Parts: sequence; C-alpha cells; structure tokens
Amino acid sequence: MRLEHLKYLRCPKTGAELSLVNEVMENDRVKEGRLVTKTGESYDIIKFVPRFVEADNYAENFGFEWKLHNRTQFDGDANHKMSEDRIFDVSGWGRDLSGEILLEAGSGSGRFSEHLLATGAMVVSFDFSQAVEPNYESNGQHKNLLLVQANIYEMPFEKGFFDKVFCFGVLQHTPDPEASFVALTQMLKPGAKITTDIYLKTFKRFYLNTRYWVRPFTRTMESEKLYARCKGYIDFMWPLARIIRKIPKIGEAINWRLLIADYAQQMPDASDATLKEWAYLDTFDMLSPAFDIPASPATFQNWHEQAKLENIHVRLGPNGVVGTANKAKD
Ligand SMILES: C[S@@+](CC[C@H](N)C(=O)[O-])C[C@H]1O[C@@H](n2cnc3c(N)ncnc32)[C@H](O)[C@@H]1O
Repeated sequence: MRLEHLKYLRCPKTGAELSLVNEVMENDRVKEGRLVTKTGESYDIIKFVPRFVEADNYAENFGFEWKLHNRTQFDGDANHKMSEDRIFDVSGWGRDLSGEILLEAGSGSGRFSEHLLATGAMVVSFDFSQAVEPNYESNGQHKNLLLVQANIYEMPFEKGFFDKVFCFGVLQHTPDPEASFVALTQMLKPGAKITTDIYLKTFKRFYLNTRYWVRPFTRTMESEKLYARCKGYIDFMWPLARIIRKIPKIGEAINWRLLIADYAQQMPDASDATLKEWAYLDTFDMLSPAFDIPASPATFQNWHEQAKLENIHVRLGPNGVVGTANKAKD
C-alpha cells in the first residue's frame, strides 16, 4: 500500500482510524508493517497488502486458483476484451471516472481491477482470499490502487463513502449473498451507483446442472488434489470435447454438462491451448467453492428494492443476473 492511502482505511471492528507502525518501505510503498488503533486492534501488512482477515478461511480455493492462474483471464494476455466489455456493458458507467472513489469487492486475480484503474478513479479493492497477492503483482504499481485482504461482512472502510461500488462474480460465493449485497449498498454515498451480478437460479440451471450434483463431493476436497483431478479429466476428455462442441446449438452446453468449462463460443479467436487453460481454471472454479448460491432475477430485484435503491435495472447478463442501481440522493 501507499502511505497516502492510509486515510481510506478504518478498523473493521470499531470503525476507528488506523495508524501505521513498524513499517518497512520499498520506494514509495509500505511493504511490511502493522496498522493499529488506539484501543489495541492491530492488522499486519504483508507483501504490500493490509490483511484484515485470518489467512485460513473458506476462500482458500480462490487463493489457490488465482495464484496458479494469475493472468489466465486478463484481457490483454488472452487477446480479447471480455472483462473490459463486461464492466462497461453491464454498468453503463463512463470510461473516465477521474476524481471518483470506487469500491471493488472480491477482486480475485484483478482482471477487472486493471480496467477500473484505467478509468482514472481511485480504486479501493479487496478480496477475502490470498488472491490479493497475484492481483497486487499485476496491478500494485498503479498509484490509484489500494488493495486489502478483507471480508465483505467486515469491510475496513467508512460506510457511505464511495461514488461507485462494483462486484462481479462474487455474491454467489459468499455464505449469505443477500447480506453481502446489503453490506455493499451501505458503502454507497448518496446518489452513488452500484453494479453487481450473481449466478442465475432457474430449475434447469440449478436442479439439472451437473455441477450442483458433483459439488457436495468436491467442495471439501483439498485444492491441490481437486485441481489435479480436474486437470487430468480435462486432458482426457479434451479430444472428445472438441468434437462435441461442433454439434450445432447444443454442443457447448453438452460440454458444460460434462463438467468441461468450454469457452469456445465466447472466445472464437482463442487458441486451443488458451481454451484448455480456461477449462482447467473454470472447471476447478465451479467445483471447489465452499458456497455457490445462485438467485433468480425476481429475488435479485427484491434485494435491490429492499435496500431502497433507485433506478433499479435487473436483467440477464454475461454471467447470470446483473443489476445496476443508485442510492437515493439525500
Ligand atoms: C469467482 S471469484 C471472482 C473474482 C473476480 N471478481 C472475477 O470475476 O474475476 C470470487 C471471489 O470472491 C471472493 N470472496 C468470496 N467470499 C468473499 C468475502 N466474504 N469477502 C470478500 N471476497 C470474497 C473470493 O475470494 C474470490 O476471489
């Protein structure tokens, strides 16, 4: 972290301001140190990142996958604009957000963080898992990034402080997605905008989706072991998957039912090696999370209404149900 970003942090337990002690600086960044309150709460800074949660938590699988696939889903590396387009198509936000303070929840490897930073906004980003380390490696040099390891239920920031709140790919992976959504809305300042998404829950998508049949057996497996099994399975099935995806209309869906995360349609220009790497990552990603709790559009709409947001627009989107809204002006 950078010294000038200390002002954005608060003790997640008491809301008190934090002071920095025992710092080890590397150029203009704090590499190691401790953030303390006057009443004795303290939080370590490790590898440039303030840590407000225990290292071991239910999101260990995400730390594992994002360390291994630290750049797999980055637009530039994979030669497409999927992440960038997803942010701006769904949110409807402008590309120049200079002067604004933006909160990104559950940033994972940081594939969205890089585009949020490119808007010129100050980006305050957090993730519950060790994924903050690969994200920091990719984006940490940016002077407008404050990245911390924190829990959506105990965020180390002031409520009602942010101009924009962004959260894609996360809510379904928290133990109580509605409570997570509500927590995010509390971070908005009057008139501020929020954009979120959640996996879609329908009968077909939930009860007939093979991943929900297999997850009870895989989600408690040790990450290394599960990843090795997923990789071995993809390697074995890949020649068949390449044939199956050629079946008009339903080929790719069959592959997903066979638990092969197939992105050939979404990334028509990607090489076979890239598609296979995405398959390794996303097959593990669908079988490993401790929580995978989708929601219907009606439920998602209801959360927005209960939070008393305005200009609510809930609809189907790239990764399930998406929502945009803003908090009422005072
Ligand atoms: C599927 S990944 C999505 C990462 C990124 N948003 C993306 O789409 O590439 C879900 C992320 O949510 C994070 N997460 C899960 N529970 C969380 C919590 N309670 N607080 C903060 N982040 C959480 C995980 O650590 C993980 O990195």
